[in-house]
Amino acid sequence: MADPSRRRGKVTHLTLREMKRRGERIAMLTAYDASFARLCDQAGVDVLLVGDSLGMVIQGMDNTLSVTMDQMIYHCQAVARGVAAASGRAMIVADMPFLSYQASREEAVRNAGRLVKEGHAEAVKLEGGAEWADLARRLSRLGVPVMGHIGLTPQSVHTLGGFRVQGRGEEQSRQLLDDARALEEAGCFAIVLEAIPKELAAEITAALTIPTLGIGAGPDCDGQVLVLYDLLGMNEEFRPRFVKRYENLAVRVRSAVGNYIDEVRTGQFPGPEHSFSRDSAAASGAGVRAAAGGGEADLPIEDAGVGCVPRCPIVPIRPIQPARAG
Ligand code: KIV
Repeated sequence: MADPSRRRGKVTHLTLREMKRRGERIAMLTAYDASFARLCDQAGVDVLLVGDSLGMVIQGMDNTLSVTMDQMIYHCQAVARGVAAASGRAMIVADMPFLSYQASREEAVRNAGRLVKEGHAEAVKLEGGAEWADLARRLSRLGVPVMGHIGLTPQSVHTLGGFRVQGRGEEQSRQLLDDARALEEAGCFAIVLEAIPKELAAEITAALTIPTLGIGAGPDCDGQVLVLYDLLGMNEEFRPRFVKRYENLAVRVRSAVGNYIDEVRTGQFPGPEHSFSRDSAAASGAGVRAAAGGGEADLPIEDAGVGCVPRCPIVPIRPIQPARAG
């Protein structure tokens, strides 16, 4: 596991650019809730994307199109709390969902602002190429860093005719390279390259001074991004070529839940160690252990049963180190 203490300091777009300059690979993942965000930040991830993929992995939809601004903000807030409860180091990027930026410039600015003001995101991500360069420039100038996303852009699933590899032909390759250049020129601080040939991803990465983050784009990008649930193996039916599973949580979760069900049915759970008694705690004043993976210390009886993420303000509770110097 990466040692988070090795790289201290809040990750910003400046950190990512510097990582590219130094040839240090960037590790980005999606997150949708406080518990996983906390764990990813503790593990040392550089960037957490609150992706509109939540429509698929959290909501069970076939695509990302129905995700709303309010849902994005809700999940962003949860992720921001999780990161703040850990080291506060990971940069939080929020996807602008389908039709939150396409209808008008004013609406786009307002919605990007909501993700920052209400969701506590530190940057937004837009799908699409040169046609969004003006908007990216405007948002960057207004103080909202923008990450681009080209190649397979899932919000265009219907015009693309499905989730298919992009940029195989010469013309499409040239177009994607032009898109990447236009987004860089407009002030995007990084670009996601999704499902394109590795040779094209390498070419785009070499042509830009801003980092590229690949998903199904081969090894020569400046960093990689995966959907957390894919990496953890939560869905056994979903096995695209570009995903590497680092766990098989589908099996482990079913096994843990099966054990719980058995123990409930046989009366093995809860045991005496999981039960409160009328006299012991009250009479002795002794506390109980934090529930559900909480702290190590005994807690006062009134605090028993809080969830696994400590209650804390969204604003980071500890001072954040400045970005690493160059
Ligand atoms: O929504 C998402 O999760 C994404 C990543 C796959 C890059 O856009």
